[in-house]
Amino acid sequence: MVIAIDGPAGAGKSTVARRLAVSLGFTFLNSGSFYRAVAYEALQRNLDISSVDEMIHLAKNIDIEYKNARIILNGKDVEDSLRTAEIDLAASKVSGVVEVRHAVNDKMKEAVKGMPIVCEGRDMTTVVFPDAECKVYLDAPIDVQVQRRYDQYAAEGKFVDYEELKQQIATRDAADKNKAEGSLKIAEDALYIDTANMNVDQVCEKITEYLAKCDKNR
Ligand code: DC
Repeated sequence: MVIAIDGPAGAGKSTVARRLAVSLGFTFLNSGSFYRAVAYEALQRNLDISSVDEMIHLAKNIDIEYKNARIILNGKDVEDSLRTAEIDLAASKVSGVVEVRHAVNDKMKEAVKGMPIVCEGRDMTTVVFPDAECKVYLDAPIDVQVQRRYDQYAAEGKFVDYEELKQQIATRDAADKNKAEGSLKIAEDALYIDTANMNVDQVCEKITEYLAKCDKNR
């Protein structure tokens, strides 16, 4: 069974998807971390992020494993190094390259083949798992998105400028909605949830209720 969740940055996708996966005993797939892994490796190797050819070559040849919802890159667990402002920017760029997306999609599908999963990203409901039994789109107004990311950084001891963060998130969301392939959109058959005034428990509860309906329709 596949539960697919899409939405913009800061809509709560990762937290919700991870929690649902734990409660259902499913595997959690964070697709953004695969793009982040490609970006991480490009930066490590000092490659030119704007070179489409270099990024395609890298994405096709990179060795990514996904174990316990953690990215293992060339045998090394890099999960905790994937969320920096530099990688935010680089991952946004590399994920705009269609052939990089194809390579990443292949790796992701291989990593979770045959497993029941809760996955999240931008094109899980539309491109990667179009036949998912349960589809959800999580949304939030920009100021809620920014506040959540700000709090997330603060919890990690990182203090960023609010307005700068807002600008970065708005730019990344616009880029995500305008990709040639795999752009962020609401699937026709997805449950739309505006999470602005909801906490994580409430969102999970709503999805769990919906899941019962999805199950019945199978
Ligand atoms: O969800 P995230 O912030 O970790 O994603 C990192 C980047 O990858 C972000 O710029 C959006 C992009 N992405 C994508 O294009 N498609 C996905 N399925 C997941 C993420």
